[in-house]
Amino acid sequence: MAARTSRIQKITSLLEGRSIVLIGLMGCGKSSIGRRLATRLKLPFVDADSEIELAAGKSIQDIFSEDGEDVFRDGERRVIARLLDNSSQVLATGGGAFMNAGIRDNISKHAISIWLRADLDLLMERVGRRSHRPLLQTDDPRAVMQKLISERYPVYQQADITVDSQQAAHDVIVRDVVRKLADYLTTTHN
Ligand code: S3P
Repeated sequence: MAARTSRIQKITSLLEGRSIVLIGLMGCGKSSIGRRLATRLKLPFVDADSEIELAAGKSIQDIFSEDGEDVFRDGERRVIARLLDNSSQVLATGGGAFMNAGIRDNISKHAISIWLRADLDLLMERVGRRSHRPLLQTDDPRAVMQKLISERYPVYQQADITVDSQQAAHDVIVRDVVRKLADYLTTTHN
């Protein structure tokens, strides 16, 4: 227990005010893992998509259908830039955020990025059959997800840390995240 507490303290001090940003495809567990990770590290948890909805005064679904994806992406860029000015926090981002070079650059300046990598079957199981997510409201959401994997995984792999989000209890994944974070921060990267 004492060892665990000192590891947590070490992580938060080595962050030196930087945030932890979770990236990955829809359904990989950014929000649920992020919430648990924040509790473990005693840091605030912030969900970028919820903040975008708050700023816009409407749901992501309505932003996409009424204003279009470009307006959503613009709001996403502004909201994430604002959130990255906060001191250390766990920030879950929407699946498309890290694909924007400006957001990626901003994340690398202010945060440690963690990619929660998951395979197609797991993602499809997690997003369910009728997703509220605008990008998956198509006749063949599995094909869309497969395409997003091909387009995005080569970019997601630029994250500082990669953790496999497998079919395991969330606490097991959080433990893995904490271990990799401690390794990352205590090697040459601090
Ligand atoms: C998107 C993912 C969603 C949300 C929006 C677009 C994407 O967030 O930002 O629907 O481009 O992958 P989650 O990854 O949290 O579902």
